Amino acid sequence: MTPTNAKKVFIKTYGCQMNVYDSDRMADALAPHGYEPTTDVAVADLVVLNTCHIREKASEKVFSEIGRLKELRAERRANGEDFLIGVAGCVAQAEGEEIARRAPAVDLIFGPQAYHRLPDLLARTGGGTVVDTDFPEEDKFAHLPAPAKEVTVARGLTAFLTVQEGCDKFCSFCVVPYTRGAETSRPVEQVLAEARGLAEAGVREITLLGQNVNAYHGLDAAGSPIGLGELCHRLAAIPGIARLRYTTSHPLDMGDDLIAAHRDLDTLMPYLHLPVQSGSDRILRAMNRRHSRAQYLDIIGRIRAARPDMALSGDFIVGFPGETEADFADTLSIVREVGYASAFTFKYSTRPGTPGAALGDQVPEPVKVERLARLNELVVRQTRDFAAACVGRTFDVLLEKRGRNPGQLGGRSPYLQAVHLDGPERLIGTIAKVEIVATGNNSLAGRLASAAVPA
Ligand code: SAH
Ligand code: SF4
Ligand code: F3S
Repeated sequence: MTPTNAKKVFIKTYGCQMNVYDSDRMADALAPHGYEPTTDVAVADLVVLNTCHIREKASEKVFSEIGRLKELRAERRANGEDFLIGVAGCVAQAEGEEIARRAPAVDLIFGPQAYHRLPDLLARTGGGTVVDTDFPEEDKFAHLPAPAKEVTVARGLTAFLTVQEGCDKFCSFCVVPYTRGAETSRPVEQVLAEARGLAEAGVREITLLGQNVNAYHGLDAAGSPIGLGELCHRLAAIPGIARLRYTTSHPLDMGDDLIAAHRDLDTLMPYLHLPVQSGSDRILRAMNRRHSRAQYLDIIGRIRAARPDMALSGDFIVGFPGETEADFADTLSIVREVGYASAFTFKYSTRPGTPGAALGDQVPEPVKVERLARLNELVVRQTRDFAAACVGRTFDVLLEKRGRNPGQLGGRSPYLQAVHLDGPERLIGTIAKVEIVATGNNSLAGRLASAAVPA
């Protein structure tokens, strides 16, 4: 049903998985209005920058990108062609007015809660910059159209699905509660309907998304709230859905039900992203994380008791205001104590409007750089050790696509590691037993160990 005079939209995504999901939903919202996605900015009629505000570097990128687009817009307009620039995402939400002031060439600025209104906003362009950064009353998900089946098929065998959005935790370093708003959970039936649509298009693995995904408490058809563990049970019952993951979780929301789901549900992959940020109780308190080091370790212990093959990943911030060498040593020691399969490490970045920005005792940049290097050395070693320990093991691998070389297939292990192996193309979409034979750069080499489980 593609209109012949289709317009083209180029969407550039920064930041987290939720932005990746949102970009697809924006494309879905535009499709009924005659817009087709393109990966070539030169042929686009509309460019949307889906931005991230989490650290200073992330938000700075937006202004330099707008600078480049402004020139393109001027050229296109000189040729009498339409070219609209839209800025979406968390920078739009946090700095909408500032963007409008600094970059009047931007045609529309809209926050994450306005994506269902994108077609209306487009219709209003042509005068000055259109800005929509309100947090609306209505449920945007109820108004965002589902993609056509062939669109979902083309997006592949794995999919993201936002079930929860926003955050009420207010960690003192973090902008997310301001950019995404208060914590909300999508109703259970809405989530299940979207998941069924994915499954019918061949999706085998769903990653449930939320800024605080394990705080999920959506209402079911009877109007009772259910938690993420129960939601996973209901999703696992959908024919075709073979694997579930979820991200990102807060330690305090790792409830008993969810931990039990990891014990009872093979569909739930034994790989959990559970950020702790720091190993120092003093810094955890200053960060307003609301849990201690001991509580975090206790939660990890309970998760591992329920699911002994569980691997963990984490996020860490070095150089939070007031962090001493002793505090940092506590971070190194918690990393050693937990043993992560992978970890993301960041230098603290002061974010306007957060309580952290008002704190004195900022850590000098060279100290941050040096601590980050030491932490990275440790986590890189752990990641390498984890991969090396996989050699000789046999994993269920979801075969997702052709590999780089002829006759090769590419897939993912339960631990999200990329695995490549020789095998026939007809196995794509199935989950096969694969023996891991070697580690490579950011991937594992495997060998088909047995016939695949049919889709
Ligand atoms: N719960 C969120 C976390 C988003 S931010 C989610 O859904 O993913 C991802 C990570 O960025 C955080 O866990 C934290 O480690 C890091 N981060 C957040 N704010 C930061 C800041 N001001 N400076 C440095 N790193 C930060
Ligand atoms: Fe940010 Fe903390 Fe909320 Fe995660 S839990 S989004 S780090 S405020
Ligand atoms: Fe960035 Fe917003 Fe995600 S600030 S990390 S895009 S929630």
